[in-house]
Amino acid sequence: MRVARLLGCLSALPSSVAAPPPNVDAMVAAATSLIDSAMVLEPEWTSERYRVAVEGLPLGDAAAEGVHEARHGVYGEFPLRGMAELLSHPAVRPTLRFVDVGSGAGRLLVGVAAMLGDDASVVGVEASAALHLLAEKAIGALVEQRRVRPAALRSLLADVTDHPPPPAVAAAMAHADVVFCYSTAFPSDDGLRLPELSATLASLLRADCIVITTDKWVVGDRFRFVALMTVRGEDDEAIQAFIWQVVGVPLTGGFHAALQDVQQHWMGEDACADNPAACAALVEAIDAKEAEQAQDIIR
Ligand SMILES: C[S@@+](CC[C@H](N)C(=O)[O-])C[C@H]1O[C@@H](n2cnc3c(N)ncnc32)[C@H](O)[C@@H]1O
Repeated sequence: MRVARLLGCLSALPSSVAAPPPNVDAMVAAATSLIDSAMVLEPEWTSERYRVAVEGLPLGDAAAEGVHEARHGVYGEFPLRGMAELLSHPAVRPTLRFVDVGSGAGRLLVGVAAMLGDDASVVGVEASAALHLLAEKAIGALVEQRRVRPAALRSLLADVTDHPPPPAVAAAMAHADVVFCYSTAFPSDDGLRLPELSATLASLLRADCIVITTDKWVVGDRFRFVALMTVRGEDDEAIQAFIWQVVGVPLTGGFHAALQDVQQHWMGEDACADNPAACAALVEAIDAKEAEQAQDIIR
């Protein structure tokens, strides 16, 4: 009788509870397939220029146009498996509206669109006109092949730290479930904190939006640290991905008020004192990496 009652309860559970865990291999395969479809029509997307860029060397002519390394960092593309793992994290699922801040040539945008499926909307914001153009071409090719809906996958040309943002950027940010930023190479005075990006996001995002940054932190009252996930880069290097939940509402006064608040209260000498949970997670991840390296030497 008790078993029957329990079974009755289980069948009444919403289907999301019983959903199978995401299959990271299948997500990567879907992403790779869609990226390949875009590249077939856009050979320059795979050119040496971009391979050089991916390896972190100075950008080629087209990509460098409009990009100032001191302001926008070095180009690189986030690993697809790492993204599939992040999108599978319980704090990140389910994602319907995804924004990539600094989306480059759009490879990750296309990959994420394939991972999230037809109902999702994926938007990139990119400061380099040349990279944005490549992304637009790739997206156009996929739309032409009817592999994606035009409204489901977009690249927007804008510097996210410029204010006020173009309306399309503000709208994409305001509705986002997940905002991702491959911030590893983003310029940062102390190598860890991103005050301008933090103020931008704090002034645009809704409560409960998830923000993911890599190797660097967002700072401010609106960001609650949730988890750190270590993923592997293309050369097997460790990338520390920080998952943040947005809380509260934007300050009256928008970006400028948010930046002032960040600079007054969150940029002190000791970053760890302001964010002990994120700091402890980072120290643990670094210790684990060192232990792994020590094991490799012993073996
Ligand atoms: C490391 S690449 C990442 C590209 C893409 N997200 C991926 O993972 O494949 C960072 C990109 O961010 C762009 N970027 C940097 N600062 C930016 C800003 N303030 N606004 C918009 N784009 C920016 C750079 O031009 C570059 O294309």
